[in-house]
Amino acid sequence: MDRIRIRGGNRLNGEIPISGAKNSALKLMAASLLTAEPVTLTNMPRLADIDAMADLLMQFGVSLNIRHGAADTTRLHAPVIESAYAPYDIVRKFRASFQVLGPLLARHGEAKISLPGGCAIGARPVDFHIQGLEAMGAKIDLEGGYVIARAQGNGLQGTTFSVPRASVGATENLMTAATLAKGRTVLKNAAREPETADLGRFLNSMGAKITGLGTSEITIDGVDRLKGTQYAVMPDRIETGTYAIATAIAGGEVELVGARTDSNRALYHLLRNAGAEVRETNRGIAVHRNGERPISLDVATDVFPSFPTDLQAQFMALMAISDGVSHIKETVFENRFMHVPELARMGAIIKVDGDTATVVGVPRLRGAQVMATDLRASVSLVLAGLVAEGETIVNRVYHLDRGFERLEEKLSGVGADIERLTA
Ligand code: EPZ
Repeated sequence: MDRIRIRGGNRLNGEIPISGAKNSALKLMAASLLTAEPVTLTNMPRLADIDAMADLLMQFGVSLNIRHGAADTTRLHAPVIESAYAPYDIVRKFRASFQVLGPLLARHGEAKISLPGGCAIGARPVDFHIQGLEAMGAKIDLEGGYVIARAQGNGLQGTTFSVPRASVGATENLMTAATLAKGRTVLKNAAREPETADLGRFLNSMGAKITGLGTSEITIDGVDRLKGTQYAVMPDRIETGTYAIATAIAGGEVELVGARTDSNRALYHLLRNAGAEVRETNRGIAVHRNGERPISLDVATDVFPSFPTDLQAQFMALMAISDGVSHIKETVFENRFMHVPELARMGAIIKVDGDTATVVGVPRLRGAQVMATDLRASVSLVLAGLVAEGETIVNRVYHLDRGFERLEEKLSGVGADIERLTA
């Protein structure tokens, strides 16, 4: 298996191009199942999860044409749905595959999708997805670890459903299913995440009638059919935030080209309070840090627009070298501190008590052999390696390849001493 080697101590200077958002692109690909006409997605990130979604969609009868170049483009075309079965072996590796349930049920009238099961960051049940589809009149049976969903009579019916916990995945599965349902669906306590709004705008470009995107009440008026479209995936706010934190950790000045300000306000506020400069440029965002130790801060993750759970591990790496004590509370997932023992191997002082990690900042970290069990935790170790003395080797690089496009190339492009050691 490949590994990443980082020799710490270099400042970062220059520019990093921001890729299309993984967590939008995956849902847009799944939603392309809703139409018999071709869909073209531009600004697609090159990631292992995107390849996995492409493989899954091919099983349903989607033909894909992927073009890499200045604007990475994927054309998807599903004239007929040949199968609506997503096996355990795929869904367990790659949870976003569960997002095909809504589109398949709406267009094909039935689907058999494996339950995803737990994963490293928590139990991650799908009960809200199922309750919402049942409220739309679907008959759902759970058999042998599979969700077997069937639309009854005239198909899915519009309804009013309150998502119990503003779940991103449940909001998106229900919103896509509702585009082809009869009548109006109102989703209350809906996710406000930018990727959810991006999916909604994509669906509207296919002829869906969705309002309230970006708010906690989304209204979908069902239509008879959706048409093909061409759509550019939004920039990745988690990749953006990761490189913003990388610059704050290593020091220097980096412009994140293509980044959007409005999707990361909570992070920029924190970075400024920690002592970094963050400013808008005409091409994106620039982050500057003079190399002094960051000021320690407390933070709690929560749903958008609060600080995202997907940046919690990276922010902890920053706080590990802060001047003071920081409390980091994780409220979204119950087990998302796997990076803590690995950061400790690099000399960080962190104690976890329930949902809160207390980080006592140290002046310097030391390079070590580390590994993690999810992609955001893995990248936090890379960030720590940028400032650690000596050599850090990050194992299990496949986690990084799932969610960060050309990570080592982008970081070495701004001066980091980082390379991939191929197996
Ligand atoms: C999405 O996961 C993202 N994944 C996650 O990013 C992200 O961390 C998360 O949203 C929160 O922002 C994708 O978009 C592919 P949720 P999702 O449903 O949709 C509980 C990454 O690193 N819940 O909002 O699965 C759930 O267990 C990944 O890119 C239920 O209890 O998140 C969790 O505690 C990791 N029942 C909370 O709600 C349900 O039916 C929020 O989950 C659904 C969720």
